[in-house]
Amino acid sequence: MNDGDGTLAAQSQGRQFGPLGRALVIIPTYNEAENIRAIVERVRKAVPEVHVLVADDNSPDGTGKFADEVAVADDQVHVLHRQGKEGLGAAYLAGFRWGMEHGYGVLIEMDADGSHQPEELPRLLTALKGADLVLGSRWVPGGRVVNWPKSREFISRGGSLYSRVLLDVPVRDVTGGYRAFRRETLEGLGLDEVASQGYCFQVDLARRAIKAGYHVVEVPITFVEREHGDSKMSRDILVEALWRVTTWGVGERVGKVFGGRKPPQS
Ligand code: GDD
Ligand code: MN
Repeated sequence: MNDGDGTLAAQSQGRQFGPLGRALVIIPTYNEAENIRAIVERVRKAVPEVHVLVADDNSPDGTGKFADEVAVADDQVHVLHRQGKEGLGAAYLAGFRWGMEHGYGVLIEMDADGSHQPEELPRLLTALKGADLVLGSRWVPGGRVVNWPKSREFISRGGSLYSRVLLDVPVRDVTGGYRAFRRETLEGLGLDEVASQGYCFQVDLARRAIKAGYHVVEVPITFVEREHGDSKMSRDILVEALWRVTTWGVGERVGKVFGGRKPPQS
């Protein structure tokens, strides 16, 4: 792990990392009408060469239509219209597939509500020069959250700790959603078997990357709680996360007791 110096990471791993290809920022949306224009504008300003894909689940508030308007005026902005609300994980999987089909070499995850600041994206991209996967991290030195209620911080820190210990994943912020992947990394994660729908999708991908031996780097970020619209965090999302993480953890332990290491289950 390091703080974003890709060159150091490349040396410390004794590995050569290829050049970064064209980058696509994927923004999943469900009812983000108040946020979508501003976030796309900030991304385009912060890193003018990147493309943006909005993956909208047919938001009732018209987010998809607003995204279309932005896309008409800017040929680096694209919109993937999905039939209905299927969860963050499904939207990202569809976005990754679209991005890989269209030849992007770097795929970035970012929330629509401004919590993941586009102005910090250059630091993630610099770190990716010497890594397979970069995680924006709230819980490493230099990382922080702004305007989060204590209750939400407790759930997030607790979820990260639980996942870290149970899954044996040496990452401080396992549930975060501001990330940059090389396409080769995504190709090696077995995305076809990923069944996680909610926020545990993030835990799922992080654990798959680490188990597969990829070089994963955490870069500190400042996560700013949204000002407009509502979080989609729900009881169901928490229950799914707790259930899946526990099942993975127990499955791995049973696998070890009986000898062979099992590949990650979905
Ligand atoms: N397409 C689609 N479909 N998008 C969705 C869905 C869905 O079912 N559910 C949520 N989103 C989008 C939101 O519109 C937003 O752009 C992004 O996913 C994150 O949702 P939020 O509701 O803002 O998440 P949060 O602020 O509660 O949670 C953040 O922290 C979690 C815990 O660390 C996110 O960064 C999560 O990714 C992270 O796991
Ligand atoms: Mn949010």
